[in-house]
Amino acid sequence: MPDAAELLAIAVEIVREAGETARRMRVEGVSGVTTKSTDTDVVTAADRAVERQVVEALRVRRPHDVVLGEEYGASGARERAGDVRWILDPIDGTVNYLYDLPQYAVSLAAEVNGQVVAGVVRNPATGAEWTATLGGGAYKGGERLHGSPRAELGQALVGTGFGYDPARRVHQAGVLHGLLGHVRDIRRFGSAALDLCAAAGGQLDAYYEKGLNPWDHAAGGLVATEAGLVVAGLSGAPPGLDMVVAAPPALFKPLHDRLAELDAAGGP
Ligand code: IPD
Ligand code: CA
Repeated sequence: MPDAAELLAIAVEIVREAGETARRMRVEGVSGVTTKSTDTDVVTAADRAVERQVVEALRVRRPHDVVLGEEYGASGARERAGDVRWILDPIDGTVNYLYDLPQYAVSLAAEVNGQVVAGVVRNPATGAEWTATLGGGAYKGGERLHGSPRAELGQALVGTGFGYDPARRVHQAGVLHGLLGHVRDIRRFGSAALDLCAAAGGQLDAYYEKGLNPWDHAAGGLVATEAGLVVAGLSGAPPGLDMVVAAPPALFKPLHDRLAELDAAGGP
């Protein structure tokens, strides 16, 4: 089993260099903007450049590992038991990046046998960086994270996000409509990885979203888990495409039950 601390050290080094590329390319002006799944799902030259840079850097340091990236998919050897699979979102929060809103992140996680063992999320615009290793705790800039102590859903500040598919958004709006009267307020910051890290640090009391891909939640999910949050889907499902809920243990059940009532994991 590869050492999680060693994998994290490699990830941090690579993400700092790649984050600098994203930051520099933002200062120079966003270019190469195209769309993916829908007209509002954008990808920029920086998303592609950051992904290529991270993949190349991993190739040099860990030539036998598999890499799954948002923009170019899987690369490297065919995965066997015990191999390391890196999961990369080169820029999480691409719409924020496009609009020069300083809320985007490079997110890189190392997974072994389907379990994330190390992860780093870095906001290149602010320099904030979150790290975690499995069983080793979650940190922001050296400070250990413990999530929010809040236990009442009615007092909870809850983060969420929306997909790019209009039909999915209509369903998500219905869920929001049913939740808003039962929480302190809602935040939509625009980067799932940073939302999970915010929940890990208690800047949000909890977070939920339907439709996340592995690269959106792999690293941030470990940061939240290691900060003591429960990170799961609905009705005992693992966190995934249908739903990711991240909440401190006391808040998890009331938020989970409300979301289940609203069929938050359902719809398109
Ligand atoms: C998106 C962001 C956003 C979330 C979307 C994601 P991208 O990722 O994380 O906050 O609401 O579901 O797709 O497209 O910026 O990498
Ligand atoms: Ca992305």
